[in-house]
Amino acid sequence: MNITFSLNGKAVTAQSDTGLETLLDHLRLDHGLNGTKEGCNEGDCGACSVIVTGQDGVPRAMNACILMLPQIQGKAVRTVEGVSAPDGTLHPVQQAMVDHHGSQCGFCTPGFITTMAANHAGGITNHETALAGNLCRCTGYAPILRAAKAAEQMDVPVWIKDAGAGDVASTDGIFCPSNADELAGWYAANPDATLIAGGTDVGLWVTKQLRDLAPVAFLGHAKDLTGIQDQGDAWRIGAMATITEVMDLVKDVYPSLHTMLARYGSPQVRNAATIGGNIANGSPIGDGPPALIAAGATLHLRQGDARRDLALEDFFIEYGQQDRAPGEFVEAITLPKTARNLRCYKLSKRFDQDISAVCGCLSVDVANGIVTQARVAFGGMAGTPKRAPLAEAALMGQPWIAETVAQAAQAMAGDFTPLSDMRASADYRMATAQNMLTRFFADVTGQTTAIQGVNP
Ligand SMILES: Cc1cc2nc3c(=O)[nH]c(=O)nc-3n(C[C@H](O)[C@H](O)[C@H](O)COP(=O)(O)OP(=O)(O)OC[C@H]3O[C@@H](n4cnc5c(N)ncnc54)[C@H](O)[C@@H]3O)c2cc1C
Ligand code: FES
Ligand code: FES
Repeated sequence: MNITFSLNGKAVTAQSDTGLETLLDHLRLDHGLNGTKEGCNEGDCGACSVIVTGQDGVPRAMNACILMLPQIQGKAVRTVEGVSAPDGTLHPVQQAMVDHHGSQCGFCTPGFITTMAANHAGGITNHETALAGNLCRCTGYAPILRAAKAAEQMDVPVWIKDAGAGDVASTDGIFCPSNADELAGWYAANPDATLIAGGTDVGLWVTKQLRDLAPVAFLGHAKDLTGIQDQGDAWRIGAMATITEVMDLVKDVYPSLHTMLARYGSPQVRNAATIGGNIANGSPIGDGPPALIAAGATLHLRQGDARRDLALEDFFIEYGQQDRAPGEFVEAITLPKTARNLRCYKLSKRFDQDISAVCGCLSVDVANGIVTQARVAFGGMAGTPKRAPLAEAALMGQPWIAETVAQAAQAMAGDFTPLSDMRASADYRMATAQNMLTRFFADVTGQTTAIQGVNP
């Protein structure tokens, strides 16, 4: 398959035999663009960050190590070599890194520069969050953050602006459906195929497990899987909507979910990862499902021409098993806007760029001081994302007071039998999940529960 894309402003064509060649290898091996570094090769360090501009014309930082070539078909890619002007004039973020001493060994620096240039072009100024996917082990972050801040006021140079290239989906050898109908027909006939959405899970099967995944289908060009429709009291979110898009979408209606998603992987990961992949992978520790379950989301599945809907919690049967037939795929999810008091709490060893040990998402409706609706969902507490029926029952119909919440927390002990693993012990998981319920009550009743900083 020929992959055409724009590389540092010039149209190029790459040959992809399996579809699983990574952009990082292609840049380094086929173009000698060795500024893009390989650190972890699994999306964790940001040393391989490049700027990718899609059809919407928005430049985004992404990890080249887990981007496979068909994912960049028709897009514009800019590496660190393409950040300064053709005459060598430094980009404002480069100059600011020099001025503020933002680099020592320099291994991380190309990834910082590309991420900072993408943020600069996109007007992103929450630098701590925006650079959370870039790891630096020698300089330290203060000079780098100072540099990012200093560059804010400078104009975006004309040479860095990439148009969203034409989106040319090709079915030459590797299946890249241009819509859900094409995918449905092909997947029903090839139910053993591997679907690749954002590739933030599948990419690691390639780079770390060296798995042979053929046949594969890349869903990134199926336009009707990407959109988000506002239906008034709910959104219908296409499976290919990225976590970044979902995060932006929910900002006003569910600010707590927005805040939690800001700790989902890194900007690079969120720019690639899709909500459909986050559900379909069936992970017990994904951050999307507990929040969506607590908000009462409905999953839309499709197999050939047949479609069915189910409550998201019913999709997860047990560890490694979901209610998904061969050849059936996630087409969309409907997220109601009406969940009351939705709060989402992520507990992980690191604040940024870490997988949850426990992710608790809760929504409670209270009328005349009595709980009339309770949805309590957790990740990390069982083999699947799961509701807490005993805790919910202990809340329902009861006065919305601290004693009720304490009883519900006790009841929760019967809801889960968590595992001990490298992220947390079973006891710790249970204690922190119960504490999340207490925190939820404090939060909803107006007490400060900020976990960063000291409460007055
Ligand atoms: C560095 C790093 C950090 C991460 N941090 C987090 C985190 O903080 N929180 C978190 O929840 N996850 C995290 N993840 C995991 C990952 O980002 C998510 O699970 C992600 O949402 C997967 O989506 P994707 O589009 O990349 O899926 P892919 O990797 O493309 O696919 C994942 C699985 O879903 C299947 N699939 C994809 N789309 C569909 C569909 N429409 N229908 C049916 N099957 C489908 C694929 O075949 C595959 O089995 C992280 C990953 C990395 C690499
Ligand atoms: S090499 Fe570490 S994120 Fe790509
Ligand atoms: S300068 Fe050495 S890792 Fe950042």
